[in-house]
Amino acid sequence: MKSYDVIIIGAGAAGLMCAMTAGQRGKSVLLLERANKVGKKILMSGGGRCNFTNLYSEPGNYLSHNPHFCKSALSRYTQWDFIALVEKHGIAYHEKSQGQLFCDDSSKQILAMLLAECEQAGVEILTRCELDKVECDHGFHLDTSLGEFHAQSLVVASGGLSIPTLGGSDIGYRLAQQYGMQVLPRRAGLVPFTLSGALKEMSGRLSGLSLPVRISCGSVSFPEQLLFTHRGLSGPAVLQISSYWREGESIEIDLLPETDAADLVSKAKRQQPKSLLRTVLNAVLAKKLVTELEQLWWPESAEKPMAEFADKELLEVAKKLNHWRLTPAGTEGYRTAEVTMGGVDTHDLSSKTMESKTRPDLYFIGEVVDVSGQLGGFNFQWAWSSGYVAGQSV
Ligand code: FDA
Repeated sequence: MKSYDVIIIGAGAAGLMCAMTAGQRGKSVLLLERANKVGKKILMSGGGRCNFTNLYSEPGNYLSHNPHFCKSALSRYTQWDFIALVEKHGIAYHEKSQGQLFCDDSSKQILAMLLAECEQAGVEILTRCELDKVECDHGFHLDTSLGEFHAQSLVVASGGLSIPTLGGSDIGYRLAQQYGMQVLPRRAGLVPFTLSGALKEMSGRLSGLSLPVRISCGSVSFPEQLLFTHRGLSGPAVLQISSYWREGESIEIDLLPETDAADLVSKAKRQQPKSLLRTVLNAVLAKKLVTELEQLWWPESAEKPMAEFADKELLEVAKKLNHWRLTPAGTEGYRTAEVTMGGVDTHDLSSKTMESKTRPDLYFIGEVVDVSGQLGGFNFQWAWSSGYVAGQSV
């Protein structure tokens, strides 16, 4: 049986970062991956260009039952540290918007960079390796489809439940429970909404249409693009707010985030008394969308000139334009979610090292932990930061 200082389960973003960091410290490291390839989510990310971090990454960009937990790791390995690594490897990148950094060329470069660092640090990587059992005996004893292995430290970097075809699995939660740790309820995050009934039909007809909105759920709001789909609503605005939304809650969409709609329609009534409301709105919103909103909000008055609208009636439509309240039927779930919210309870982990408080030498890093980032490179930054601090401690 082969023995190592460290075995890491899962060769995704967090596992690769942890492996190279521990290897660079002279530790013997084995990285086990169940899939046929390592880093599948890195390759798929950012539309193939990997949004690898965010210039403005800070604890406020993360959701967790303990919002303070992520502070330590994020400050010990920052976005600037990862940017320095990217620059050291000569990978060209650019800021797309709001601090989001993408490769100019391909996400393959980020994976190649991590693999090169791992190779240099002497990390052994095994793919197509199914884990059967983990037992403790002066360290950890692993039974796998590729044989038995032993290690002093075990790092769980198996990710969350999102996108099973890209490696989503519950092994990390099961291992946490095996060692007496709490696992908080999980749900899909950064995920499109589904709609039902007339709203679903409407979004289907508008499928492909995208517009800038301000979307809100409770006290949280994001100014972003909204996209209508055949199943409901998507786009960055929806992905962002979905992480804050709970089943049954309503959301609010401001279709004219830069415009006071009440002011717009009142002025139009005075200045274009013979115009139809749809003509007025066609100047500020896509024609297709206005046609749908007309059917939804003022079907009886569709052919009425502005002058004949009662002020109250116009203000009601205006209010809906700035504050459209609707209740999603649900989300598309783990099939398309970019992250899994919830997971291994941070109260059972050291924020400085990611080591379990219930079992020494056992670590949990990356998405399996109850820390989820907003859209924009924050999830990879969490994977790098948590992977690094564990790699420094094992
Ligand atoms: P990750 O899921 O990356 O890795 C876990 C690994 O463990 C996988 O390789 C899996 O196969 C393996 N594994 C699971 N069970 C195992 C077992 N039993 N034995 C061995 N191995 C096992 N974030 C961001 O910041 N910028 C972006 O651009 C994107 N884009 C993006 C696109 C898409 C389509 C998705 C689904 C997600 C993103 N994300 C993102 C989120 C980001 O990909 C995610 O947060 C990180 O990959 C999490 O890194 P981890 O290493 O924790 O898990």
